[in-house]
Amino acid sequence: MKDQFKKLKFKRLDAYRDNPLEIQAHKHQKKEPGGAEKSMEPKTYAEIDLNNLVSNVHAIQRNVLPAKVIPVVKADAYGHGALPVTKRLVKEGFNFFAVAQFQEALELRESGLTQPILIFERLFPDEIKQAIQAGFRITLFGEEDIRWVEGAGQERPAHVHVNLDTGMGRVGLLWNQETDFFNALVHSRHCHWEGIYSHFSTADERDKTFADIQLSRFRETLSRLRRLDKKPAMIHMANSGAILDIPESYFDAVRPGILMYGHYPSSETSRSIKPRQVMTLKTVVAHVRAIPAAYPISYGRRWVTQKATRIAVLPIGYADGLSRQLTNQGEVLIQGKRYPMVGTVTMDHIMINVNDDPINPGDEVIIWGNSQQGTIQLAEVAKKIGTIPYELTCGVSKRVKRIYKGDA
Ligand SMILES: Cc1ncc(COP(=O)(O)O)c(C=O)c1O
Repeated sequence: MKDQFKKLKFKRLDAYRDNPLEIQAHKHQKKEPGGAEKSMEPKTYAEIDLNNLVSNVHAIQRNVLPAKVIPVVKADAYGHGALPVTKRLVKEGFNFFAVAQFQEALELRESGLTQPILIFERLFPDEIKQAIQAGFRITLFGEEDIRWVEGAGQERPAHVHVNLDTGMGRVGLLWNQETDFFNALVHSRHCHWEGIYSHFSTADERDKTFADIQLSRFRETLSRLRRLDKKPAMIHMANSGAILDIPESYFDAVRPGILMYGHYPSSETSRSIKPRQVMTLKTVVAHVRAIPAAYPISYGRRWVTQKATRIAVLPIGYADGLSRQLTNQGEVLIQGKRYPMVGTVTMDHIMINVNDDPINPGDEVIIWGNSQQGTIQLAEVAKKIGTIPYELTCGVSKRVKRIYKGDA
């Protein structure tokens, strides 16, 4: 027996030595009943409906006209895949994008995207040089940034946008302390002042008092800047909350993120646009097990069967981005019916109580999103665990393949 095992092990190793990719490839093929081999779909994946994305962004565009739309594709397009999302939006005529990080802009450029990309984060001198060469739109936060642009030694002008902090309290130039900065900017030899923007901290709240204060601070600064010789062509402020509720903040362009991906930024905004969910997180039933009464399920024995039941095991866990806080709280859709997650969410598996229903291995499971038989709104999942849809889509891990639906 032992020898046989040894032989088997060596045989496998030899195969690996001859062609290390062969084992890999073999694992991902399955034989069709007719004998043909086809590539196997992953069990757990995020289906990204590009047609829904496009319908959302067009709805936003119609609403904000004549302002332009700057799609925010940071954080891998909120987990939806920055490249496929951006490519599709280019096809739809959108031609100016925003990301958070230099690296994100670089990846899009290296993948062939030629359109301008605004970078929200602060760039350091070595990045500024590359950013100018790549034609990225650089955000300025103070006079030091202007000096860094001047010192980058580039012939090409740097297209810059100023981030004005009107109350967000995160990054940007404080709105009432900017006098010398703008003088330096208009006299800068290398900065081409293309834009100025601000960011709301509470546009998604029902009470717009503070959002209005931010908007008037922004307007006040803009009117003070009228005395300058140069003026930026792009003034922009609105995020999803403001797109829904504050039309006075549209200016020349708006910067939607979450609304474009099919979700409201909070439960308190109006529903003036009705977006469609873009991501559906799916898996399959891997195993259905008959479990006796009084039997504990998963780590910590946080759920125990009250009677004999059937438990479906799903190959998805917190390593895929499914929050452990859904333990004993989450629900999934199988064959159009909701079933509860029972027991602790583990790294690679969750357990579902399906009772006596005819659920079988291979059945499709919706964790959130749309299916022909029903929907689980991401907002509902987020609310259960005290977070926001943003965190859930961004949290879907690299292990989960994105499969695109609709024209690429
Ligand atoms: C500067 C800036 N603009 C726009 C957005 C898009 O926001 P939302 O996803 O709420 O539309 C973000 C995202 O946080 C941001 O940081």
